[in-house]
Amino acid sequence: VRVLVLVSGTGSNLQALIDAAKDPAYGVAIVAVGADRHDIEGLERARRHDITTFVCRVSDHPDRAAWDRELARQIGAHHPDLVVSAGFMKILGEQVLAGHTVVNTHPALLPAFPGAHAVADALAYGVRVSGCTAHLVDSGVDTGPILAQRAVPVEDGDTEATLHERIKTVERTMLVDVVGRLARHGHTVTDRKVTFS
Ligand code: GRF
Repeated sequence: VRVLVLVSGTGSNLQALIDAAKDPAYGVAIVAVGADRHDIEGLERARRHDITTFVCRVSDHPDRAAWDRELARQIGAHHPDLVVSAGFMKILGEQVLAGHTVVNTHPALLPAFPGAHAVADALAYGVRVSGCTAHLVDSGVDTGPILAQRAVPVEDGDTEATLHERIKTVERTMLVDVVGRLARHGHTVTDRKVTFS
């Protein structure tokens, strides 16, 4: 299965997918990595593994709709079966979503703490357990059908950085597992419930 990964930052989730894809039994070929900015570690990781990269910046386009069209065109050029948003910090537009199944990973137990500041929001709320969620992307912000969730404890004295690091350790394993299952089994969605078939 051809998988295209979108990143905005460090790309440790991307790295976990690259490592998993080295095993042919995993069933995934990472065909390209796209980003919304230059000079990020995620793009470097892709280049180190000879994976094609592209950058599509909102600021290079007259408006969000034009950016969405161009991103959809760039993604489509690689003919992916699955798009994985792995720390991609932009909300995807309708052109991208119309043409592709997109999986997102989020560092909280949705529907709690959606949005870009999930770890800080969970800490500020005072929850004792948070975690991560892999879900299909729809037009809302972190609202699509849930594929997998893992719980992670909040420890006394946690900062946003320490909690996010603990979550990301679990998140990488969860994402590798979910992408592998989607690749090998496919899926159906009925009333928001996802079945791997
Ligand atoms: C992940 O926790 C992701 O859920 C969040 O940002 C982090 C990305 O980490 N949105 P990385 O770039 O994969 O290391």
